[in-house]
Amino acid sequence: MKSVLITGAFGQLGKSCSELLKNNFELILSGLHPSDSGIKLDVIEQKSVKTVLDKKSPDTIVNLAALTDVDQCEVDIENAYRINVDGVKNLCKHFTGHFIQISTDYVFDGKSGPYSENDKTNPISIYGKTKLEAENWLMNNHSKFTILRSNVIYSFSKNTKASFLKWIVESLINKKSINVVDDQWNNPTWTNSLSEIIQLLIENEVYGLFHYADKDILNRFEFSQLIAQVFELDGSLISPISTADLRQKAPRPMKSGLLTEKIESELEIKPKSVETCLKEIRKQLSI
Ligand SMILES: NC(=O)c1ccc[n+]([C@@H]2O[C@H](COP(=O)([O-])OP(=O)(O)OC[C@H]3O[C@@H](n4cnc5c(N)ncnc54)[C@H](OP(=O)(O)O)[C@@H]3O)[C@@H](O)[C@H]2O)c1
Repeated sequence: MKSVLITGAFGQLGKSCSELLKNNFELILSGLHPSDSGIKLDVIEQKSVKTVLDKKSPDTIVNLAALTDVDQCEVDIENAYRINVDGVKNLCKHFTGHFIQISTDYVFDGKSGPYSENDKTNPISIYGKTKLEAENWLMNNHSKFTILRSNVIYSFSKNTKASFLKWIVESLINKKSINVVDDQWNNPTWTNSLSEIIQLLIENEVYGLFHYADKDILNRFEFSQLIAQVFELDGSLISPISTADLRQKAPRPMKSGLLTEKIESELEIKPKSVETCLKEIRKQLSI
């Protein structure tokens, strides 16, 4: 059985990925704030990285550790580069096996999405720049790399810090009026969908650069209305606003989204519709 080290294993994607992968691989779960089932591993601490890799010698690393707060990256630039770029270098310094890096549509400027793997990158935020720098470093320095770009990852996990889905559902259950932007376009991706892809990439040892996202390109307001519809909640509590009105620190790629033909043919899969994913989540939650 292959052994797989997951970094950032207690984050949003990490929880779902661990849950799925535990049935097929020997997992080493690591994180900054691990639960009882994991070990502490800060990817910027070179010594700890070496110790863990020497001791555990995994076959595969799935690197989910990242500073993912896009606005925080604009103010904490040094830390963003340390975690998102140097973290990758630290891990690869002591590892020659299959390295899977989760990246993002934020490597694009969002002027003409949806994007394929061949489209020109041009990040407009610090977060996007760090993720692109990590991609480029990996491509040039680690032969067994897989870079998997995704976008607007969501789940409904109890302890998830920032979950768009949870925020919408809980606000509407509590009859709270909220504003959601209607000018950012993506194909929102359920953590379970992405975890299934990661599983296939490990099993089949697929290398290279790929995009994966669920099927439908929606703006956030449309996504929130679909959530309201599937969870049978009052969508009229949600009002559309523009991104400019939010005055966020980091600029966002507006017309984004990812094309997935390459991975569909490589893995012989078909992305699910967002509605199907939301219905599955509702069924699991039984609400
Ligand atoms: N969320 C999205 O829409 C999206 C889209 C495309 C790509 N991605 C990528 O997908 C991956 C997983 O993201 P996510 O949505 O699951 O975000 P997340 O919930 O923020 O998970 C990231 C994890 O990394 C951990 N971490 C931060 N600094 C670390 C360090 N120095 N050493 C070790 N672990 C560290 C965090 O720990 P603490 O929480 O304890 O600080 C957190 O558990 C990231 O690489 C992200 O860039 C995310």
